[in-house]
Amino acid sequence: MLRSITLFILFSSIFSYSHNPLPENVGAYQQFTCFQCHNTWPENAAESGSVQIYGIPDFIEPGARYEVDVVVSNTYNNASWGFEIASFIGYQGPLLQAGSWELTDPLKTIAEVANNVVYIKQTSDGTFPNQSGSASWSMIWTAPENFYGVIRFYATGVAGDGELGNLGDYSYKTDLFTTVSVPDSEYPVNVDYYNEVVPIFQGYCMGCHLADYQYNDNGLALDSYPNLMAGGNTGPAIIPFDAENSLLVKAIEGRAYESDGVSSMPYFQPLINETLRNVIRAWIDEGAEEFPCILGDYNFDNQIDVSDVVQIVDCILNSNCDLNSCADINEDGSLSVADIIMIVNVILEG
Ligand code: HEC
Ligand code: HEC
Repeated sequence: MLRSITLFILFSSIFSYSHNPLPENVGAYQQFTCFQCHNTWPENAAESGSVQIYGIPDFIEPGARYEVDVVVSNTYNNASWGFEIASFIGYQGPLLQAGSWELTDPLKTIAEVANNVVYIKQTSDGTFPNQSGSASWSMIWTAPENFYGVIRFYATGVAGDGELGNLGDYSYKTDLFTTVSVPDSEYPVNVDYYNEVVPIFQGYCMGCHLADYQYNDNGLALDSYPNLMAGGNTGPAIIPFDAENSLLVKAIEGRAYESDGVSSMPYFQPLINETLRNVIRAWIDEGAEEFPCILGDYNFDNQIDVSDVVQIVDCILNSNCDLNSCADINEDGSLSVADIIMIVNVILEG
């Protein structure tokens, strides 16, 4: 009796295993691939077959939906097929999920979450027993709305020989990266720290600038507002209202070496896109606040009142308006009578 129960448990765990590989098996930073166990043949053995990710173009639109196909092919084995795929922001340190996944074929694919990241893989119906040549699984991936930068996809695959056990199977892995198109915007205004600045740090910086991990002991953590404002080994990284002289801006514009002996950032990589750099610049020049300012609040006292109107009228008359203020209530990039009218209305409406 006991023996048959043990056998049953053994069998069901083995069986569920073959149809349901563990998550975090796509070969991303510090992850294994299917080859950890399916290792009879070299991984990606030449001319035997491959795993491919289809449907993700080089540049993608924020928020757009893409039909993704993962295809595993093999010349020798066709008894069963398996795969796993996931998408990430960043490529080192804690992996953040990029975008979101939807199953379109729940009979053949399932999702499992590990450390807040979704992994899609085959079900037992999705092993396509004895299908020759290749197997293909479809799903939908939606790009993030508020992230501009590089996203990485990782996929792994197995072509099984049907023998019980993990031997004799072929293992494959692949990865690709895509870039979310940066909108052709005017110079950014009213920048929001959490929605616009943090995603840039996540995409390009946090791999080396975390509270508990700083590459080469650089001392700077970018993973929280207080840590960012605390600065690094050289001193403050941000001087509110003064992007030009902020060390972080000098670093991402490649001019911190002369002034402070700090390398260009990201370290040993090309500078990030100018629009993204300007998001950071504008955010600092607007005061580097953690939470967005109140539109219309020219003097940053957290309320909209007559003193804002007086100061705006005054600065328009003297043509010395501070465009980094929050007063540009209609967000057209300048201060004019139109802004004053809207602000007066806000005051009248209480
Ligand atoms: C920790 C070890 C381990 C890892 C990692 C692993 N597998 Fe397996 N896999 C097994 C074992 C053991 C079996 C045999 C169980 C069986 O055949 O019922 C198996 C069987 C399979 C089979 C059936 C093979 C055949 O010969 O028909 C497929 C398909 C499969 N795994 C897919 C995957 C995929 C895809 C991955 C990576 C995303 C993966 N496995 C990762 C241990 C592993
Ligand atoms: C590959 C790792 C890596 C990446 C990615 C990276 N940095 Fe750095 N960063 C470092 C190292 C190493 C140092 C210290 C070396 C130096 O100062 O030349 C450093 C230093 C800095 C400093 C100076 C800190 C101080 O007080 O001395 C700033 C500011 C900075 N980085 C900002 C950024 C920003 C912003 C990004 C993203 C756009 C970024 N880094 C991406 C590795 C990295």
